[in-house]
Amino acid sequence: MPHVQIILASTRDGRIGDKVTAWVAEKAKARTDFTSELVDLRDWPLPHFNDPKLPGTGEYSFDYTKKWSEHVQKADGFIIVTCEYNHGYPGVLKNALDHLYKEWNGKPVAFVSYGGVAGGTRAVEQLHQVVNELRMVSVHDEVNIPFVAKAFDAGGTFLQEDVHGPKLEKLFVELADKLKRMA
Ligand SMILES: Cc1cc2nc3c(=O)[nH]c(=O)nc-3n(C[C@H](O)[C@H](O)[C@H](O)COP(=O)(O)O)c2cc1C
Repeated sequence: MPHVQIILASTRDGRIGDKVTAWVAEKAKARTDFTSELVDLRDWPLPHFNDPKLPGTGEYSFDYTKKWSEHVQKADGFIIVTCEYNHGYPGVLKNALDHLYKEWNGKPVAFVSYGGVAGGTRAVEQLHQVVNELRMVSVHDEVNIPFVAKAFDAGGTFLQEDVHGPKLEKLFVELADKLKRMA
């Protein structure tokens, strides 16, 4: 069974990203074509990238990079849940991506974004360029949640299930298909 890591890219106090990711992770549990786990970048406090060797060598100088590498290697594919900061994606995410290379290569990656009026689409457009350089395989179907501040009730229930639920299912189907082709 292929394994998918769901990466939560926002680490700030009071983030809404944990609610969005919880919604994605809960839906992913129902899949019978891949297993999944949450990877919260708060649990991976990597310093600003400082390895003297290029990540493509796979020779890591620091224990935190070796541990990050071992963790990411467990995944066959990824769902990145990202917010939009100043029309881009969080620097924490770029730093986490930049630490590794071969661990990402050839693996499918899907995107769930959220933000204001544009629903984080500008962050995802930038991410397409980055994951291409990491030789990942982008999933075309994505979920983009606009006006995220109003998207959850006080109990964390997602209020736009009718709009975005079917889109998330399409994303899962394409991701599962890509995982199968690459097996
Ligand atoms: C530094 C910063 C920059 C932001 N820039 C944008 C932006 O360019 N576009 C947008 O739609 N929302 C922007 N927002 C609003 C965020 O989309 C919104 O705060 C969202 O909840 C952030 O995700 P998080 O709560 O998981 O950190 C910005 C928020 C912050 C903190």
